[in-house]
Amino acid sequence: MVEKVRMEQVTKEYVMGSKAVKAVNDVTISITEGEFIIILGPSGSGKTTLLNLISALTLPTGGKIFVGGREVTALSSREATRFRAEHVGLVFQFFNLFPTLTALENVEIGVALKIKNPQELRRRSLEYMKLVGLEGMEDKFPDQLSGGEQQRVSVARALAMEPDLLIADEPTGNLDAETGEEIWTLLRELNDRTGTTVLAVTHWGEAARYADRTIFLRSGKVEKIVSKALES
Ligand SMILES: Nc1ncnc2c1ncn2[C@@H]1O[C@H](COP(=O)(O)OP(=O)(O)O)[C@@H](O)[C@H]1O
Ligand SMILES: [Mg+2]
Repeated sequence: MVEKVRMEQVTKEYVMGSKAVKAVNDVTISITEGEFIIILGPSGSGKTTLLNLISALTLPTGGKIFVGGREVTALSSREATRFRAEHVGLVFQFFNLFPTLTALENVEIGVALKIKNPQELRRRSLEYMKLVGLEGMEDKFPDQLSGGEQQRVSVARALAMEPDLLIADEPTGNLDAETGEEIWTLLRELNDRTGTTVLAVTHWGEAARYADRTIFLRSGKVEKIVSKALES
């Protein structure tokens, strides 16, 4: 089994005036290639901070993080940008699509730093539009798509670069319950089909049923880790 992500005693402390908050507090976890991991915790428990640390958007105040064998906590900010562009697919709560670009162009943008050949870029983007169930919607603009469809575009954008790791921060936080379940089902299917390691954060408890393992976060600490095999 190949280890995809390792966090060793990672702490992130924010100091605001005289108050210090440990948003992430001494977290040690290991994630295996191909796993579907859900991080579950209430608002303010450190979920977004944890993801930002793994994607090297922010540096910890203590500890080390490895992604795909690379120590991301040792990267310069320039190297970190490159690391994200090449190795991490990101999905956000509010989709973050460019309103003036079509669905297909939004997918292409996410991959353009990695694939320079325009024909290959187009071919790859079409392939992933299809994979997320949006064949025929390529020329629509984001405001012509439902929330669920927009999130599918952003999932296609994140996956088309064929990342080491797909990171999703509250991917269903802006969707109704039914559409949210469709997105969880899609992420699970894509994980099964492509073998991409998925790390998704939510405060919706039932999302755990889609995961191989669920990491419960509370006040920046890992409260418990539940494996599906043990649960059922
Ligand atoms: N940039 C920041 N500066 C100061 N405090 C922060 C910052 N980001 C997060 N925090 C604090 O860290 C804690 C965890 O935040 P966050 O990771 O956003 O939690 P979650 O995503 O689970 O809601 C909160 O108490 C929050 O106020
Ligand atoms: Mg958050």
